[in-house]
Order: sequence, then C-alpha cells, then structure tokens
Amino acid sequence: MTRPIESFIRNLPKAELHLHIEGTLEPELMFRLAERNRITLPFASLDEVRAAYQFSDLQSFLDIYYQGMQVLIEEEDFYDLAIAYFERAHADQIRHCELFFDPQGHTERGIPFKTVISGLRRAQDEARERLGISSGLILCFLRHLSAESALATLEEALPYREWLLGVGLDSSESGHPPVKFEAVFERARQEGLLPVAHAGEEGPPSYIWEALDLLKVLRIDHGVRCLEDERLVARLAAEKVPLTVCPLSNVKLRVFDTMARHNLKELLRCELCVTVNSDDPAYFGGYLTENFLAVQRALGLGFTEIRQLADNGFRASFLGEREKGELLDEVRHYCAGFPQD
Ligand code: ADE
Ligand code: ZN
Repeated sequence: MTRPIESFIRNLPKAELHLHIEGTLEPELMFRLAERNRITLPFASLDEVRAAYQFSDLQSFLDIYYQGMQVLIEEEDFYDLAIAYFERAHADQIRHCELFFDPQGHTERGIPFKTVISGLRRAQDEARERLGISSGLILCFLRHLSAESALATLEEALPYREWLLGVGLDSSESGHPPVKFEAVFERARQEGLLPVAHAGEEGPPSYIWEALDLLKVLRIDHGVRCLEDERLVARLAAEKVPLTVCPLSNVKLRVFDTMARHNLKELLRCELCVTVNSDDPAYFGGYLTENFLAVQRALGLGFTEIRQLADNGFRASFLGEREKGELLDEVRHYCAGFPQD
C-alpha cells in the first residue's frame, strides 16, 4: 500500500532549481539520436550504458556525461532532449524550473550556440503553453576550461540575452576555485544575469565563501560541505542564501556513503534555505519526486519538513513576487488536506 506521505510527495507542487538539461539524456534517446546523427556509441546496448553508470566521484561521472552529450547535434536534438524532460517534470508536478545548460560542451565540438539555445527555447515555449510549466535558462561556464573561454562564451550568448535568466558555474570543482571566474561573473551581472555557482559539492567551504564574496551569487548549488565551517553556516542562514541540494546525485557521486548519512536534515536544523533537486537524473537514478522520496525514507522526514522543502524551492526561485505568491498559495492549499506533524 502507498504510504500517505508518499502520495503527498507525488502530488505536491514543486520547483526544480538545479537540473542540467544535458543530464536528462536517457539512454533510449541517446541511442535514437546516435542513429539519427550517424554517431557510433561506445556501448552495444542500453544495458551496457546503464552498467557504465557506476561512479566513484564527480570526475568519473563528468567523463561519461560529456561523452553522452556528443549525440546532440541539430536544433531538433536539443528540442527533443528538453521536451522529454518537461514531460517528466509535468508528471512530477513541477510548476517551475530553472535549467542549467553547458554551451561549451557543444560549441567546443563545433555546434553553434544558436542551435543549442534555439532548440531549448522551443521546448520551453511548448512546456509553458501545453504543460503549464514556466522555466528559465541558466548558462553554466565549465570551470575546467579557461576564464577566457568563459568570457568568449558569454559574448557569444549576449545576442540571446533575453532568453537567459542567469549564469552558473559547473564541472570539475576541485582545483578550479570561483576566483578564476570573477571577471566573467562581473560582466554577466552587469548584463542583469542572475549569478549562481556550484560550490561545496566536492570542493571546500572556502569555495562557497568565494562564490558569495567574489561572484556575488544569489544561490549556492549543492553547498553541502558548508557544515564544516560554523561561520559560513551562520552567514548562509543570516543572509538566507538558498542551497540547491541534490540527494541522489550526492550518494551516486559518493559525497555521502548512503542516503541515511546525507546531511540534509542537519542543514534544515541549521535554518538554511534547503531545496531538493535532481542534478542529472538520467545518470543518478531518479527525477525530482524520486529525490524527495529517497530523502524522506532515509532521513524519516515528516509532512512539515517536506512542505518546507517545497516552499523553499519556490521562495529560492528567480520568479517575480506575484508568481511566487501564487505558487506558495497552491502549496498551502494542497497541504491543507494532509496532516501537520
Ligand atoms: N555538471 C553536471 N552535473 C554536475 C555536478 N553535479 N557538479 C558539477 N558539474 C556538473
Ligand atoms: Zn549540478
């Protein structure tokens, strides 16, 4: 029998704030696009692909992630990728999402920026019209590449400024501190792009400080290592800086040995604005609802904590105050039919 809290989670209105669209490439679509674009994959079957998804750390995942995205060539491919994600988001009761994309993962292979963003944009328009999901695009710079490459990518993107919500920073964290990207973030902020950055996933608390002080980010992506630094926790709480936490990702990439050891509950206890997200769900074994269910089960979260996480998702979003208010009202109405614990 389905537990009451499980059906509560399944139908709860949600926001997704940490999702790499390239990380939603399911093996079936990877094979279909490889065939359509006449690309030979290093896997003979879907089972072989799935068997390769055993990761020991962030880099071991990124190697496979960059390989997977090589099947994305035409505008239609980016549209197919994103619309498949939006269909899943709809099934997860997601009302709003802020999607990361990695243009350098494509432009470095000779795919024009316009091809990438046009396909994503077409899917966003359709998702809004047909599925009632609002969304924004956050352009991520790959931190293992140079600051010059990031700046050139931003310049290439600026003709599409109106299609962008913000900028982010992702890829291999260790050895690539935020300071490397201070100038490009400054330029992006001048253009009104909203800054976020991955920090404190594998990297130390000092990277979170840098992201706040130098990149002036409005949210920290992951940030789970903040608990190693009391002063940092106090600052994140006082300034209400949201953390976009990705539980299944953290366990798959061995940031935590098991879900029972995940520090999400401790982060909530420290009064941090924690949100739940899915990162790269095609690679980590579950979309947003599965992330909520996994932490609920492993950490024994109650209705009130789950609702707090959903509220935080909308509060931490870059929606306007009116839209936030409407979505928070929807959550409030929905929760009225369930126990308060
Ligand atoms: N790119 C895609 N997923 C990522 C993650 N979890 N951390 C850093 N870069 C990423
Ligand atoms: Zn991420």
